[in-house]
Amino acid sequence: MHTKQDFLSLSDLTAIELANLLALAVELKQEWKSGGNQPVLKNKTLGMVFTKPSLRTRVSFEMGMRHLGGHAMYISPDEIQLGKRESVPDVARVLSRYVDGIMARVFAHADVVALAQYARVPVINGLSDYTHPCQGLADLLTILEYRGAIKGCTIAYVGDANNVANSLAFGGALLGAHVVIGAPEGYQLREDVAKRATALAAANGGSLVQVTDPRSAVEGADVVYTDVWTSMGQEAEAAQRAKVFPPFQINVALMALAKKDAMVMHCLPAHRGYEITDEVADSPQSALWDQAGN
Ligand code: NVA
Repeated sequence: MHTKQDFLSLSDLTAIELANLLALAVELKQEWKSGGNQPVLKNKTLGMVFTKPSLRTRVSFEMGMRHLGGHAMYISPDEIQLGKRESVPDVARVLSRYVDGIMARVFAHADVVALAQYARVPVINGLSDYTHPCQGLADLLTILEYRGAIKGCTIAYVGDANNVANSLAFGGALLGAHVVIGAPEGYQLREDVAKRATALAAANGGSLVQVTDPRSAVEGADVVYTDVWTSMGQEAEAAQRAKVFPPFQINVALMALAKKDAMVMHCLPAHRGYEITDEVADSPQSALWDQAGN
C-alpha cells in the first residue's frame, strides 16, 4: 500500500498545514484570475459520490478539476446507492481502481471514514453530518480576504451548531480566531467537538465560547455566520426546529450589535426569511457570493 492523505475534517490538520493550504488557495486563485492555472492535475480524475443534493460542492469541484487540467466525474445519489446497493468498503475498493481521488458527500460521517479506510486513493469529505471541511476552507479564505487576517478575528456563528459550525470552529480555532457559537440549548456544539476546538484554540492563541443568547454572541463580532436550521437528513425535525430557532435569525437588529463593518457569511443554500433576512443577505456587508465563489 502506498501512503495517501485523506481530507475528512479540519481537525485532522495542524495549524501549519491549514495555513499552507490557504496560502496555496490564494496562489491558485491568483493564478486562475490572471489567465489560468498550471495543469497540476493533468490526466487525474476525481470521482464525486453524492448521496445528497449539491450546487456549490458539485460545480466548484468540477470546475476546479478542469482549471487544474483534470476531470471530475459526478456520480448521483441514485447511481451507487452507497451502502444499500453495494457496501461502502466495496464501493471504495472498486472506485480506487478507476479514479485518482474520491470526493464524497454522505449522511453518516462513518461512511466517509470507511471510504477513506478502504480506498487506495485519497478521499475528500464533501460534507457529512459531522463536518464540511471544504466549506471550512472556503470560509477561512473568505475571512482572510475580507479581514486581512484570521488570527484575533471574532467569528460569531449563530444558529444550529451543525456540520458547518463544527468545521468553522475547528478551522477558526486552529488559526487563532475567537469563535463564539450562539445556539439554543440542545443545539450547541457536540461535547467532543467543543472540547477539541477549545484545545485547538488554546494551542493557537484563540478561544471558543458557547452562549445561548444570539445577541451576546454577535456583540462586537468581525464575522457573523449562519446556516440553515434544518440540515439535510434532519427533515423530520424541521417543524420542531422552526419553533426553536427564530430568535437566532440574522437580521438588521442583530447585525447592529456586531462591528459596524462586520461581514455576513452563510454557506448556502439560504432560507431567506428564516435564518437570514433578505435585507442582510443582500446588504453591502454580505460576503455570501464571494464565499460561494471561494
Ligand atoms: N448544514 C447544511 C449545509 C449545506 C451545505 C446541511 O448539512 O444540509
